Amino acid sequence: MTTGFATEIVSIVNKLQDVFATVGASAASIDLPQICVLGSQSSGKSSVLENIVGRDFLPRGTGIVTRRPLVLQLIHRPATGAAAANAPNGDAKVATAGDAKANPDEWGEFLHLPGEKFYDFNKIRAEIVRDTEAKTGRNAGISPQPINLRIFSPNVLTLTLVDLPGLTKVPVGDQPKDIEKQIRDMLLKYISKPACIVLAVTAANTDLANSDGLKLAREVDPEGLRTIGVLTKVDLMDQGTDVVDILAGRIIPLRLGYVPVVNRGQRDIDTSKSIAAALEHERQFFENHPSYKAKAQFCGTPYLARKLNNILMHHIRATLPDIKQRISAQLQKYNMELLSLGGPMGDANSQSVVLSVITEFTNEFRTVIDGNTNDLSLNE
Ligand code: GDP
Ligand code: NA
Ligand code: MG
Repeated sequence: MTTGFATEIVSIVNKLQDVFATVGASAASIDLPQICVLGSQSSGKSSVLENIVGRDFLPRGTGIVTRRPLVLQLIHRPATGAAAANAPNGDAKVATAGDAKANPDEWGEFLHLPGEKFYDFNKIRAEIVRDTEAKTGRNAGISPQPINLRIFSPNVLTLTLVDLPGLTKVPVGDQPKDIEKQIRDMLLKYISKPACIVLAVTAANTDLANSDGLKLAREVDPEGLRTIGVLTKVDLMDQGTDVVDILAGRIIPLRLGYVPVVNRGQRDIDTSKSIAAALEHERQFFENHPSYKAKAQFCGTPYLARKLNNILMHHIRATLPDIKQRISAQLQKYNMELLSLGGPMGDANSQSVVLSVITEFTNEFRTVIDGNTNDLSLNE
């Protein structure tokens, strides 16, 4: 199973970036949104992000584990073939999605350790823990100073995810008395950005009406245009209770709706259960549960990833006219330069190459967009 964002949208964005590279514009021209997780401490934020990325590398656990923002830049790089050689069917995507095996095409780099490549994702986790402690102390301190990590992989969409400390009310250890305000201010800095998609995480075994994540999300996105509700720990609910009323919008309606998920529990983490195994467990949970089996396709991490993809697709579609405009401006400039050099040379000149790349791209983009028309209605 391929997890995360390894879908058509990866190839769309990469083609778009190729086109920009061809016409000499900046590869960062497509301004993709940041995805931020918001919620109470231990609600499962890091677990959700990790499942979305499909790799095991974030510190998780009971208590205040995430104590600094982690700005996680995923950067798509085509497979080199080194990994495909080890993979079944020569398909690198199948082999690399999921577990902590080293893969020559996937590595991480920290901003604070320039030039050092981490191929072992367990070592990435250890470095996040080490640097968190170095800057905040071991004792529950928090700091707004972000850890910047880039992950290069053929299986990700070039996109930024932000793991954030959880909302908390009661100071513990050496935490300052105004810890609640400090964390709120830190979170608001990230989620106020209009291009931020908020994953408002609430544990299903807690009261939705008291969800700090949802409350704060509402402050920055009152109409709910960029907030997705994520319900974790559905597996830990009391027998006979379920989240059906929440999903149906009867408790606190959200325009983009809620997605229930089942992440790994603490015991799974202690026994290093793989993401692939966790996703399989999640699928079986929803497919066999009397409350969810009729709507199992709208439950779980893969559906959440699809929903995020749809939002990104909307975003790209909205920016497409601007992108076209910029491409034609670049072309015009290029034309002028060619003319000033004495006109185009030969018949297979570079202009027509650029034009055909753009035409091909535009057609493919339309095909994919049209193919996703049904998915584009966000209120399933
Ligand atoms: P965060 O503090 O919000 O980032 O939460 P974590 O992702 O670190 O998770 C906190 C604890 O809850 C960990 O022990 C996880 O194993 C556990 N946990 C998270 N999501 C689920 C879930 O869906 N089901 C179960 N059983 N445990 C979960
Ligand atoms: Na935690
Ligand atoms: Mg966390």
